[in-house]
Amino acid sequence: MANAAKRLSGKRALVTGAAGGIAQATARHFAEEGAALLLTDLDSVGLEPIVEELQVKGASVLASGADLTKRAEVDELVQNGKKEFGGLDILVTCAGGYNAYANFEDINEDDWDRTIELNLKTVYLCCSAIIPVMKQAGWGRIINLGSLAGRSTSAGSSPAHYATAKAGVSMMTQYIAKDVAPFGITANTVAPGTTITPRVRNVLTPEKETQFVARTPIGRLAEPDDIAGVITFLASEESRYITGATIDVNGGRLMLT
Ligand SMILES: NC(=O)c1ccc[n+]([C@@H]2O[C@H](COP(=O)([O-])OP(=O)(O)OC[C@H]3O[C@@H](n4cnc5c(N)ncnc54)[C@H](O)[C@@H]3O)[C@@H](O)[C@H]2O)c1
Repeated sequence: MANAAKRLSGKRALVTGAAGGIAQATARHFAEEGAALLLTDLDSVGLEPIVEELQVKGASVLASGADLTKRAEVDELVQNGKKEFGGLDILVTCAGGYNAYANFEDINEDDWDRTIELNLKTVYLCCSAIIPVMKQAGWGRIINLGSLAGRSTSAGSSPAHYATAKAGVSMMTQYIAKDVAPFGITANTVAPGTTITPRVRNVLTPEKETQFVARTPIGRLAEPDDIAGVITFLASEESRYITGATIDVNGGRLMLT
């Protein structure tokens, strides 16, 4: 395919949580569409296989480990991206998650703080560090990862701290969208339902999987590619009139809950 036909040609993207499943599928789509990539994760060793895979295919990829709960590390990451690529046009915040399901009364304060930090503060820090860079360029795409868990209590078996943080991501993204719209920047949330990443495959029991599929009109759980395709659309010029939205990507599960 000629370079001109690629949807992200000339764009530079920062993708967080890139040792994880949805981020890696996104990185593959972005590289295919011509973007240069800065991949980051707390687990820097976990970045190595995807970096190698994409470099072999000829993509421009940099990797940098960072703890995104720390402002100094986020700022350094964004400044390095700006220095290496000359700017950053796209942010996808996939870093997130939780340790284990617990009923509300069994969530201790440390786990509460850690989960809110990981799912909400990291998104705040990444967005606030990158917005000035995007403003300078007069163009930007922010895509934050929410969750079906942040859209409905009956989605499945997500704990309250995680669901609360993910609902917060949708609202924070609306505020960001309102503030940055005059600068050519859009900000949206993608809220996946259960997605069969390597991590989820390891923890999902056959009973849970059957239960979740039964509640999903499309009749299967999501593959990382299902989510990455939507993220890629939101990163592209084609999505220019969408901002402040939460895009539900859950095979119809939300409408039944
Ligand atoms: N997989 C699903 O079923 C699903 C469903 C709904 C929403 N989501 C959300 O989508 C996003 C991606 O999901 P996934 O399943 O691909 O994730 P994943 O668990 O595979 O990857 C998350 C990554 O975040 C990294 N991380 C953790 N703490 C960090 C920190 N302090 N700094 C930097 N990185 C850190 C981890 O090392 C991990 O590689 C997450 O935000 C998740 O909550 C996932």
